[in-house]
Amino acid sequence: MRIAIVRERTEGETRVAATPETVTRFIGLGNNVAIEAGAGAAARITDESYQAAGAEIVPTAAVAIKAADIILTVRRPDAALLAGAGKGALVVGGMDPYGNEGDIAALAKTGATVVAMEFMPRITRAQVMDILSSQANLAGYQSVIDAAVNFDRAFPMMMTAAGTVSAAKCFVMGVGVAGLQAIATARRLGAQVSATDVRSATKEQIQSLGAKPIFVENVAGIEGEGSGGYATEMSEEYQKAQAELVSGHIAKQDIVITTALIPGRAAPRLVTDAQVATMKPGSVIVDLAVEQGGNVEGAIAGEVVERHGVKIVGHRNVPSRLAADASALFARNLFNFLSAFWDKDGGLPQVDDEIGDAVRLTRGGQVVNARLLG
Ligand code: NAI
Repeated sequence: MRIAIVRERTEGETRVAATPETVTRFIGLGNNVAIEAGAGAAARITDESYQAAGAEIVPTAAVAIKAADIILTVRRPDAALLAGAGKGALVVGGMDPYGNEGDIAALAKTGATVVAMEFMPRITRAQVMDILSSQANLAGYQSVIDAAVNFDRAFPMMMTAAGTVSAAKCFVMGVGVAGLQAIATARRLGAQVSATDVRSATKEQIQSLGAKPIFVENVAGIEGEGSGGYATEMSEEYQKAQAELVSGHIAKQDIVITTALIPGRAAPRLVTDAQVATMKPGSVIVDLAVEQGGNVEGAIAGEVVERHGVKIVGHRNVPSRLAADASALFARNLFNFLSAFWDKDGGLPQVDDEIGDAVRLTRGGQVVNARLLG
């Protein structure tokens, strides 16, 4: 098999879909790997280090992709980029399928089999292949660092000869993979941390990290867990109770980090402008859901804005802010996925079980994914 990796074309994308480590492992399976020159530069991976791992560095994307059997990518490639690929090539990466159905249809027309790693089912066997988890974990960490950078006070309590500096109060809304890492990171920095989620199972997880759970009690439809461990949309009654609870709490916080997502829908609105106005000047909100519509009213994707003296941080593509680590984990997710389905007779990996059905978007010129067709 010939595997191709090209430089990511999406603006602001610093990650790369293979590292020298995964190149070596793919070559160990008997493949050739072609990498477009400079593909790893933004993630601090040099062409020389890919070469040392056994890859062939080629001058352009077209040369890398020509006759490729497998193309690895962080973000959805343009259909035009795949023009020279081998017939029925397997294209594996982040495809951001929802809302981009036109682009997916164009990719289908190239004849490629396109795999969206975001659609990985949440089963134990697939955990090592889950790009959402690996990237969300880093984003959760980075959200706290971004909050600290924008906060003009300290996180930890400090008792000094000149007096005491009080600990920052940090509230994490949405305790999935990113939220748990945000709690752990804020705790390590010495903040006083509290957190909330609609899934009651997270209560114990919050406590086990030494943070305080803030939960709506005694409201119908309180169990917000849907399939695959994801959240469901909550009842109006619940949303009202949650808003009241959060209003009281948020006014006392220095830092708010929001991470709440519902798959296939716009992010739920968790913080209103009126609630922002109750926070102390100099407080910081980081909205990790800003690209999915935002949890915070007034957050703008790609910007740090100030409302009522409160900074609202809305960085896009937060994992790209940690390009080296994010690429290393992303590349391993791709390797773990492909190697699990490796064909020892030299054919393309046959990804045909429940994992294949979940992640495959296109095959034989058609869009074939139930979540997109449904
Ligand atoms: P996510 O990124 O879809 O959502 C983030 C968090 O926001 C979730 O905890 C969700 O419950 C919460 N949320 C949604 N609406 C909310 C609202 N209105 N108010 C407050 N919070 C709200 O979720 P993520 O991080 O992908 O993980 C969800 C669960 O799936 C976790 O329990 C995680 O451990 C589990 N998981 C399982 C995997 C596996 O078994 N292979 C892999 C990855 C995650």
